[in-house]
Amino acid sequence: MMSQEKNDLITRIGPGTGAGAVLRRYWQPAALAEELVGARPVVPVRLLGEDLVLFRDNEGELGLIGRHCPHRGADMAFGRCEDNGLRCPFHGWHFDRTGQCVEQPGEPEGSRMHEKIKAKSCPVVERNGIIFAYMGPGDPPPFPALDCFIAPDSHVFAFKGRWDCNWLQAMEVGIDPVHASFLHRFLQDEDPDEGYGKQFRDRAADTDIPMTRLLREYPRPDIKVEETDYGLRIIALRHMDDGRTHVRVTNQLFPEAIVIPISNEMTITQWHVPVDDESCYWYSMFTSFGEPVNKTVMREQRLKEHRLPDYVPLKNKHNNYGYDPDEQEKLTYTGMGLDINVHDQWAVESMGTIQDRTQEHLGRTDVAITRYRRMLVNAIKAVEEGDGTALPMAPGTIDPATVRGPLSIDAIGDTDTWNEVWVEADGRRRANCQWPAAL
Ligand code: FES
Ligand SMILES: [Fe+2]
Repeated sequence: MMSQEKNDLITRIGPGTGAGAVLRRYWQPAALAEELVGARPVVPVRLLGEDLVLFRDNEGELGLIGRHCPHRGADMAFGRCEDNGLRCPFHGWHFDRTGQCVEQPGEPEGSRMHEKIKAKSCPVVERNGIIFAYMGPGDPPPFPALDCFIAPDSHVFAFKGRWDCNWLQAMEVGIDPVHASFLHRFLQDEDPDEGYGKQFRDRAADTDIPMTRLLREYPRPDIKVEETDYGLRIIALRHMDDGRTHVRVTNQLFPEAIVIPISNEMTITQWHVPVDDESCYWYSMFTSFGEPVNKTVMREQRLKEHRLPDYVPLKNKHNNYGYDPDEQEKLTYTGMGLDINVHDQWAVESMGTIQDRTQEHLGRTDVAITRYRRMLVNAIKAVEEGDGTALPMAPGTIDPATVRGPLSIDAIGDTDTWNEVWVEADGRRRANCQWPAAL
């Protein structure tokens, strides 16, 4: 069991906290690009417990600046997006995308006070549908050459959703291979042809076995965890009755993302980004190695389950996640419908806003969670001691162009050769890919 002190250390992310300092050394998803379209491209952003406002200026460039006006603190999210910057509606102070105050129209003529006024600002960059912010010290790190970043825009779809819980328990559900056999269990299999863009609805690897059946029939995976340049590789082996083994390869991308297969042609890179200590957004990039992604279908599927503009799931704790005991008896393990995001959301929100880890009992199958927490604690110590180079993917220690993939795939093969089967299956998928995915 964990001490309260350690639970606080690894969960709290506001300015001045240990885990917060680690997360601030990495680019963080701050908004979807689709939030900034429309006549007034301004959106409030709460990220790592800090209040900011994101806008696009007349030159089309992005700015992310402090939400409270440096004059007397009014809310810049209501600002006038004009004159190539953002203007506070209270007294008209005007800020450019770097946060520099460039005009104070009510101050005496000739005043140069504005030259000394600068709002907090963070570097921002847009990648395949997500706007990333860097909130840490010094220069931001380069982006690693992961599939989700190097695939063309046509092959990546991005979306997000809010969960009312701490980011760490949200991330930990993604590095827990056993829960898929229970939490996401379907008591009847659907037609895999109807499963486009949905998790666990494809056939298992090159077989006719629906993933739902495989997960249901083999609930005790053998789990292997390896440390890598980018975080952890997690391999779940399900040994089947016919002498073959199903291999599912997923990843923890340090510090708060996972990279997992969603179907035979698509992977998801999913960040669990703290809004503050008690809520987070998942941001996903769905990356296709096959056809371009059908963004219209993927977006419509997800808009049916979420409310804009804040991307709150329609099923949530206020309506018991749509829980139906009859459905739980006949169709799903949870009784909360077919959308697996709702299952995960229930699992992590129902722990309480910050899981009380002083009361938990980890099993053998929680091995990736244990290993991840160790990595996080080591990273917190390294940053405290001023050694940013000890962090995974730290600038200067590794060429970001060499951080590729990561390999995320479901494969089936002879039990004896399982460790080759998934590498070969991934290689075939990359060799046939329309964009330069080959490693
Ligand atoms: S509070 Fe913003 S200009 Fe005065
Ligand atoms: Fe899940």
